[in-house]
Amino acid sequence: MKSAPDAPVRLQRLLGQGAAAIDTPALVVDLDAMERNLQRMADYARAHGVRLRPHAKMHKSADLSLRQMQAGAVGVCVQKTSEAEALAAGGVPDIYISNEVIAPAKLQRVATLARALQARGGRLAIAVDHPQGVEALAQAMGTGEYLIDVFIELDVGQQRCGVAQPADVLPLAQAIARHPALRLAGLQAYNGSAQHLRSVAERRAALDIVIARVQEARRIVEAAGLSLPLVTGAGSGTFGLEARSGVFGELQAGSYLFMDADYARNEADPAQPAFEHALFVKSQVMSVSGSHVVVDAGHKSHAIDSGLPRVHGEALEATGCSDEHTTLRATAGTPLPALGSTLWLIPGHCDPTVNLHDWLVGVRGGLQAGSVAELIRVDARGCLD
Ligand SMILES: Cc1ncc(COP(=O)(O)O)c(C=O)c1O
Repeated sequence: MKSAPDAPVRLQRLLGQGAAAIDTPALVVDLDAMERNLQRMADYARAHGVRLRPHAKMHKSADLSLRQMQAGAVGVCVQKTSEAEALAAGGVPDIYISNEVIAPAKLQRVATLARALQARGGRLAIAVDHPQGVEALAQAMGTGEYLIDVFIELDVGQQRCGVAQPADVLPLAQAIARHPALRLAGLQAYNGSAQHLRSVAERRAALDIVIARVQEARRIVEAAGLSLPLVTGAGSGTFGLEARSGVFGELQAGSYLFMDADYARNEADPAQPAFEHALFVKSQVMSVSGSHVVVDAGHKSHAIDSGLPRVHGEALEATGCSDEHTTLRATAGTPLPALGSTLWLIPGHCDPTVNLHDWLVGVRGGLQAGSVAELIRVDARGCLD
């Protein structure tokens, strides 16, 4: 059992107690399932000769980042400068902001963090997708005493950030090469929408496009005498395809550690390891009626942008959700749970769910029979800038 002296006293009192003692709503991690997920992904990356750099925007925890690194991850990704700062403050040495930063004031913070991490033997990396971003980053970094790794983001189908065409990578690579404090580290190629395509065939087709675009960018850059040493990307829906592509050297999957209800809707790819649900909102039935029950956890407890939660191990379906309530109906004509019953919700989307909570309550030995073994701080909770 691990102590957490900075956790609120009401949470500290739970340590060693049965899971029944956890008041609701609470964000609970099944530590045994999480550790199996963590190890499965680490083993998979090792077996396929690719680096693993899990996306820590999912759990926002320095402690969990370090556990992933202990199992073999080379570092973690984040999306935001403040997330990087929070994880670095918690001891994470190797961080990649897999996202663009444009504001000069924020780039000053990026430069300060790059120096701080390098001074303690670690490093910082960042993504760019515009010459103006390269120049602003170079200006913030200064003369070259300290370095930052820079990945050029290529839009590989999501139509989010990234240069639009493989040929657009070259001028950025040339611009990066001109600055002594910037090291051209490679290509950022992530297609978020491909992760949630339901069939394996659809995901394969989307990844064929990703891989072709990456290969073309590489060919163009290499023909001009530069190189893109590492291609990084992939999420929990497609990482097996990137890992076996022969072009990706690093996987950024994040959700695999907790697995949400939305990912469970994907057709399983037999070429990828399967992951277990490890993140739950413990809730209590607070009202019953003839047709439905209501639990005391609404979308202030769990994100619903990717659909309503599922109910773990029960023939119940969520049919409505408001700030503090979720309405559930029986799916199989089975009796509804009684007033006061505990229900374990599997959130629709783990990343924004975690961001609603300050602490994760870690249970070992199962959700029913287990006990509270750890409290894990969400260090980068609310770190949006
Ligand atoms: C750039 C980037 N890489 C990797 C991931 C990880 O994806 P997932 O959590 O679906 O595994 C995300 C998630 O949105 C992302 O935005």
